[in-house]
Amino acid sequence: MAPSIERAMLIFKASVLLFLTGCSSSRGADGGEGGDRITALPGQPKVPFQQFSGYVTVNPAAGRALFYWLTEAYGNAISKPLVVWLNGGPGCSSVAYGASEEIGPFRINKTATGLYLNKFSWNTAANLLFLETPAGVGFSYSNHSSDLLDTGDRRTAEDSLEFLVRWLDRFPRYKGREMYLTGESYAGHYVPQLARQIMAYNLKSKHPINLKGIMVGNAVTDNYYDNLGTVTYWWSHAMISDRTYGQLINTCDFRRQKESDECESLYSYAMDQEFGNIDQYNIYAPPCNSSDGAGSIASTRQGMRLPHRPRKVNFRRISGYDPCTERYAETYYNRPDVQTALHANTTRIPYKWTACSEVLNRNWNDTEVSILPIYRELIAKGLRVWVFSGDVDSVVPVTATRYALAQLKLVTKIAWYPWYVKKQVGGWTEVYEGLTFATVRGAGHEVPLFKPRAALQLFRSFLRGDPLPKS
Ligand SMILES: *[C@@H]1O[C@H](CO)[C@@H](O)[C@H](O)[C@H]1NC(C)=O
Ligand SMILES: *[C@@H]1O[C@H](CO)[C@@H](O)[C@H](O)[C@H]1NC(C)=O
Ligand SMILES: *[C@@H]1O[C@H](CO)[C@@H](O)[C@H](O)[C@H]1NC(C)=O
Ligand SMILES: *[C@@H]1O[C@H](CO)[C@@H](O)[C@H](O)[C@H]1NC(C)=O
Ligand SMILES: *[C@@H]1O[C@H](CO)[C@@H](O)[C@H](O)[C@H]1NC(C)=O
Repeated sequence: MAPSIERAMLIFKASVLLFLTGCSSSRGADGGEGGDRITALPGQPKVPFQQFSGYVTVNPAAGRALFYWLTEAYGNAISKPLVVWLNGGPGCSSVAYGASEEIGPFRINKTATGLYLNKFSWNTAANLLFLETPAGVGFSYSNHSSDLLDTGDRRTAEDSLEFLVRWLDRFPRYKGREMYLTGESYAGHYVPQLARQIMAYNLKSKHPINLKGIMVGNAVTDNYYDNLGTVTYWWSHAMISDRTYGQLINTCDFRRQKESDECESLYSYAMDQEFGNIDQYNIYAPPCNSSDGAGSIASTRQGMRLPHRPRKVNFRRISGYDPCTERYAETYYNRPDVQTALHANTTRIPYKWTACSEVLNRNWNDTEVSILPIYRELIAKGLRVWVFSGDVDSVVPVTATRYALAQLKLVTKIAWYPWYVKKQVGGWTEVYEGLTFATVRGAGHEVPLFKPRAALQLFRSFLRGDPLPKS
């Protein structure tokens, strides 16, 4: 265990006692947070922070309820901000990815019988609220099953706001607390959209949500620039031929939601004939055997977290990190004892918990073509906005993000420089008026999975509102 965590635990032990004695009387028995308290998860090491999880009804008429898991901060949680983390898909779970393989305090072990600590967990710096959104993702459900067939960006933002408002009623000690929204991939839509929804809510509410900023990674941002930047990344990283690149540029209309058959067949050619056996989410990671039994989950993973166009890919496994964590998650979170400990699946949801919902993904109803107008609004309102990018991801690559952000025509405040973590270049960054952009060198699509130490550095700098370290 890292010395820093041990220290944090010692400090926190004292504050747990203070907290329990100080606040035990305010714990409501009914509808309060008390019922959501997690005693311990099966196979969980002892930890000095508190955890809560459960459901918040966001639409009583339809019977939609969203599931959350709060892991409070190591040490002095009461004085630390609340950070919401969302994964993308659309249709993927923040419990599966964010909590269990990226920024959360626990990792699931190989036999899915126990948990071990992630020493670079972001709850060393903040209280983390993992939300499975929209209904149909993970444990979040709707009693109106047709909801799963017409959910899109709009309902996701509305329900997520409803969730936050009602959740804060259940956890009054978080009211007025500094809040940040973070996430990756298709959460490049969710996070800014929810921020916009919160700003609109704040205008007419007596109890405004104290939203301070947002941070997104490898974020789906703008159809046209994302698509252009993606094929350009493929070409500039020598994954495709000059000829295929030229044909893609000349044939595809990157503004369209659905491409022509001619364009689709060029994509297929690039991926099937030219890419070879690589992981699109981390192009330099060596591929692993396809015979490791992770088949179905791996193919879900490849298909599901793509921005717009479901791309046909044979599933690939990679090493350098444990590639099977999604499989452990699907075993672990389907265990009845785990669900009981989490207060999850209390209504006997008629299908299994999965890391991503194919039904939601396939039937996604509405998607904004560009998130850039929302960035302009949020920047104008003075929110802290950070955008980061793992630079070996070819799914929502760094070129896509740079093309998109360039359209904002922001004024440079601190010119491009390498930032450091443990005396190594962690990536590069440029600070603009209103927005900070940072790359994470050698990180794939899920930045905190591939580069946990660098990701934690990024998170700490973001929370402080300081530029990344120059040495
Ligand atoms: C969904 O239906 C179940 C079973 O009738 C009920 O217990 C539950 O409260 C409903 N959920 C919501 C959010 O209304
Ligand atoms: C997983 O965790 C359980 C519970 O702590 C433990 O008994 C088991 O040996 C661990 N398995 C592996 C492969 O680490
Ligand atoms: C791939 O599979 C072969 C045969 O099953 C095995 O010998 C080899 O160790 C595997 N490689 C990896 C990287 O898992
Ligand atoms: C919910 O629990 C039922 C058993 O009561 C189980 O069959 C189902 O797979 C579970 N669903 C989820 C999403 O956990
Ligand atoms: C589906 O999308 C259309 C427009 O794209 C929108 O008008 C409608 O409200 C959406 N439906 C839901 C349930 O959000």
